[in-house]
Amino acid sequence: MDRYVVFGNPIAHSKSPRIHAVFAQQTNLSLSYEALLAPLDNFEGAARQFFVEGKGANVTVPFKEDAYRLVDQLTPRAQRAGAVNTLMKREDGTLLGDNTDGAGLVRDLTVNAAVDLVSKRVLVLGAGGAARGVIEPLLGESPRQLVVANRTFAKAQALATLFESLGPVTAAQFADLDAPFDVIINATSASLGGEVPAIPGTLIAPGHTVCYDMMYGKDLTPFNRWATQQGAAQVLDGLGMLVEQAAEAFTLWRGVRPDAGPVLAQLRRELAQS
Ligand SMILES: NC(=O)c1ccc[n+]([C@@H]2O[C@H](COP(=O)([O-])OP(=O)(O)OC[C@H]3O[C@@H](n4cnc5c(N)ncnc54)[C@H](OP(=O)(O)O)[C@@H]3O)[C@@H](O)[C@H]2O)c1
Repeated sequence: MDRYVVFGNPIAHSKSPRIHAVFAQQTNLSLSYEALLAPLDNFEGAARQFFVEGKGANVTVPFKEDAYRLVDQLTPRAQRAGAVNTLMKREDGTLLGDNTDGAGLVRDLTVNAAVDLVSKRVLVLGAGGAARGVIEPLLGESPRQLVVANRTFAKAQALATLFESLGPVTAAQFADLDAPFDVIINATSASLGGEVPAIPGTLIAPGHTVCYDMMYGKDLTPFNRWATQQGAAQVLDGLGMLVEQAAEAFTLWRGVRPDAGPVLAQLRRELAQS
């Protein structure tokens, strides 16, 4: 049976084994998928050992940059993201590294939530690994303007420079923002600490702006609670991104796209009951 895993540390909480088990059932494919705890100081050793027989792996915190350095070849989107969340062993034994996080976010926004990004003003908050991974796929949707704003401005500037050849992306400081955006994506980790990035409420046009927090939880995230208070038309969280990045990885490995919808609905129900 073909073997797949997700590497992380910690990893016990991972929903990926459940997601991929359902995908395998849906597509009538026989495969195994488990969570593997890799040592913090030896991701490479754990990955090399697994790939003696293993076919593919997902990679999560804190190993996405280690995976980027490990592979023999990168997809263009992984190259630009500077991080790898999906590994695949090819016929000749070499390892391909891909990054499906950004495609997962865009699919969740545009397909699951039916948010059209064409000609829209889009704001990305944050300039860490998650923000870097979503800029190229967001630009692929032809927004009118994509602004990257970060607490540490220099990091936002570096990202805008990195992607400026691909579309209308610019950097901003939180304090310089005041006009409303059509879509605001929170790619900071502020919600983890119960915080909201220091941006003004004027960025939200009541009844119009769609807000997306990459973090997810049983209840509204702090960012989405704040956005709701400002009158956002819709607030979405990152559970759909998680399931869609998995669907994208499964498609790369097996050549068939699973249906993320039922898995997302099931995980949402379980979160609500937890
Ligand atoms: N749903 C999914 O599938 C998915 C996938 C990937 C990531 N994520 C989520 O995305 C978030 C970011 O992950 P990451 O890997 O990009 O993290 P990261 O590389 O550590 O970057 C963290 C970012 O958050 C900013 N930040 C942290 N605390 C802040 C605060 N209190 N106010 C304003 N900005 C703050 C940092 O700003 P500075 O540069 O100024 O420090 C930086 O831009 C995490 O919550 C992660 O769980 C979700």
